[in-house]
Amino acid sequence: MKENPFKFGTVVDGEYFTDREDELTKIGSYLKSENHLILISPRRFGKTSLIRKLLNESRRRYVYLDMQLVISEEDFASQLLKRIYRIFPLQKLKGYIKSFRLIPSVILNPVTGEVEITFKPGSKDLAPLEDVLNLIEKLGKESEKIIVVLDEFQDIFRINSGLDRMLRSVIQNHRNINYVFMGSSESMIRDIFEKKDSSFYRFGSLITLGKIPEEKFRLFLEYRFTGFVKEAGPVSEAILNISGSHPYYTQQLAFTVWELLSRSDDVSGIVEAAAYEIVMSHDNDFELLWNTLNRTDMMVLTGMSAGNISPLTDEFSRLYGTGAASTVFSTLQRLVKKGMIIKEGSVYSIDDPFFSRWIQYRRRV
Ligand SMILES: Nc1ncnc2c1ncn2[C@@H]1O[C@H](COP(=O)(O)OP(=O)(O)O)[C@@H](O)[C@H]1O
Ligand SMILES: [Mg+2]
Repeated sequence: MKENPFKFGTVVDGEYFTDREDELTKIGSYLKSENHLILISPRRFGKTSLIRKLLNESRRRYVYLDMQLVISEEDFASQLLKRIYRIFPLQKLKGYIKSFRLIPSVILNPVTGEVEITFKPGSKDLAPLEDVLNLIEKLGKESEKIIVVLDEFQDIFRINSGLDRMLRSVIQNHRNINYVFMGSSESMIRDIFEKKDSSFYRFGSLITLGKIPEEKFRLFLEYRFTGFVKEAGPVSEAILNISGSHPYYTQQLAFTVWELLSRSDDVSGIVEAAAYEIVMSHDNDFELLWNTLNRTDMMVLTGMSAGNISPLTDEFSRLYGTGAASTVFSTLQRLVKKGMIIKEGSVYSIDDPFFSRWIQYRRRV
């Protein structure tokens, strides 16, 4: 039995990775320039996979940090420093760290070969973070810049509401680092980088990452299903019809279709059956999620799950009783912020096609 060739939930590369040729070229050339980069897209569109692929293939020195996992200011500093230890020899760093305002404890873990770093916790002092960022600047060279990627950057506000200004004041003097800021909350990232009075106004070029073009994704799916099912083409198309070419959900559905096919030869209705299986496996989560919503949220999502009528039209309002367009608009904004709805251009859609189906199933039974 062939191994399932689809993968979802973790960073993908190699045979699990498709397309993004234009993005790889474009972002690659930004990283070779004097510019900093801001990369945004809704969750699970493939930002992390894309940047990690670029970093791995670049042969440059880089520091990658996911801000979602950073707990505090001193943790931010420790995590960065830990990653610097991965790319520079201990001996070289020693001298620099001696001049830090707060000296961290650095313990080498003999099992993993990694260092554990602790700054005095709870001090709320920004000195460690400043010192670490400036250390990276010193370690880089104008001709050999270090790439620093801060993923899910909007999370700095959770750490400390004033952290963006402090970061900006340190980072703006750096010449030997290419910064990449990534985020899944488009509105928050745009607030940080595009508002005139914001901390990072015009700090770098902003790129939004879209879904994978349907045609490219179809080839990717078809190639993998060929030899496994006779109807590789129609099966691939049916998957994309449901997933809307969303990178994560497409891989999830293709994975599940593959699993079902490896248990049965009956191809008819296999994609629908796989979708149903995914919906049911999340029944509990969807129910919890549903119960966090208010009445207008529920009405808007129900209407959107039922068909393709734009939620901002009179027709939608009439059919689903959602009331004034301004109410629907603010509801949409809020649901976009929560990540439940995505906005591409001026088109709104429910992010998770299986949640959308769940709403329909539940209303039917
Ligand atoms: N280039 C790609 N080709 C195929 N699948 C992809 C690609 N990028 C992302 N995916 C799918 O989407 C999922 C989420 O990707 P990830 O990089 O974690 O997104 P993000 O960082 O935007 O949340 C992956 O686990 C994979 O299933
Ligand atoms: Mg990510």
